[in-house]
Amino acid sequence: MKYKIAVIKGDGIGPEIVDEAIKVLKKMGEKYNHNFEFTEVLAGGIAIDKTGKNLPEETLQVCKESDAVILGAVGGPKWDSLPGNERPEKALLALRKELNLYSNIRPAVMFDILKDTCPLKPEIVEGGMDIVIVRELTGGIYFGKKFTEGNYACDCMEYSKYEIERIAHQAFKIAQSRNKHVTSVDKANVLETSRLWRKTVEEVAKDYPDVKLNHLYVDNAAMQLVVNPKQFDVIVTENMFGDILSDEASMITGSIGLLPSASLGDNNFGMYEPIHGSAPDIAGQGKANPIATILSISMMLKYTFGLQSESDCIENAVKKTLSDGHRTADIARKGEKIITTVEMGNIIVESI
Ligand code: NAD
Ligand code: IPM
Ligand code: MN
Repeated sequence: MKYKIAVIKGDGIGPEIVDEAIKVLKKMGEKYNHNFEFTEVLAGGIAIDKTGKNLPEETLQVCKESDAVILGAVGGPKWDSLPGNERPEKALLALRKELNLYSNIRPAVMFDILKDTCPLKPEIVEGGMDIVIVRELTGGIYFGKKFTEGNYACDCMEYSKYEIERIAHQAFKIAQSRNKHVTSVDKANVLETSRLWRKTVEEVAKDYPDVKLNHLYVDNAAMQLVVNPKQFDVIVTENMFGDILSDEASMITGSIGLLPSASLGDNNFGMYEPIHGSAPDIAGQGKANPIATILSISMMLKYTFGLQSESDCIENAVKKTLSDGHRTADIARKGEKIITTVEMGNIIVESI
């Protein structure tokens, strides 16, 4: 079977981490006899530099004709002064919207072997942490009405019941396959959208009587994540809250360089990207951790292609590599040997 994959390397560390992920996928193709076909297309800052547009039409077309998309990261200081619509990040938002990828699955799992890298006290994460953040991805303040008029600017947070329903269903379904607990995070004490969110999530919950539901305000949720992260199973939340909470959760696992994500819609098509950005501060230095992107590939094999054992194989190769003590700079403790992005990729490929 042929699997068509669009590849968007993007900016900063994007090309470095995506190259390692492609190496892993090619190895998987050899090992399991799958035919992965890659088409590289441009988006973000590099697309602006080469074509004048942050998201050339060809890119969107190739993504639509593919089974899945791999994306590194977009953005960087070079393009920070462009107007909102012309920025690299706008290309990512447009891809999510155009491809109807409303559901962003961000697992935050702490590998036991990395528990000393976690900045929290050992007793707080004793026994590990295993959370899935289900982030609404095509609504909210990111996509509401927005404008600037002189010294006044406005971004509206907008949600329809339908948008909340479909992401809530996704969260409850994921919870059913796990520990059957959904925490819905909102700001219903202040925001109209959050009051609609809470009411809608309560209604959807009736279809899943086996799943326990609780609600937290986002400020409390941010605090609870560092006080008692083990209380969470599935967190469902709106676009911006999910963006912020997932970066916070990532550090509990040891590094933002470890967390993958899947952006999904109504069919099996998906865009797979690490949760981190283009990390301009370390770009081009071989310091980036490719594991978040490699684990995103593992998610792609599972969610889009239904290849569960292949997906597990990548996860096991990553775990083995970490257990054998291999560390990029972000997860190395004082005195530990540090390896480069490429070395980490090579070792994971060898473990497959
Ligand atoms: P960032 O995630 O790029 O970096 C935050 C910190 O984490 C930096 O110190 C960086 O060095 C470190 N880091 C990130 N990924 C790492 C990895 N794989 N290995 C080791 N360390 C890693 O966030 P930022 O600095 O706020 O944003 C930089 C640029 O990236 C901005 O232009 C932003 O808009 C963009 N961004 C893009 C995406 C995306 O394309 N999905 C996501 C987030 C941010
Ligand atoms: C992410 C990023 C993006 C977001 C930006 C770059 C638009 O932070 O994927 O987490 O806010 O969704
Ligand atoms: Mn983010």
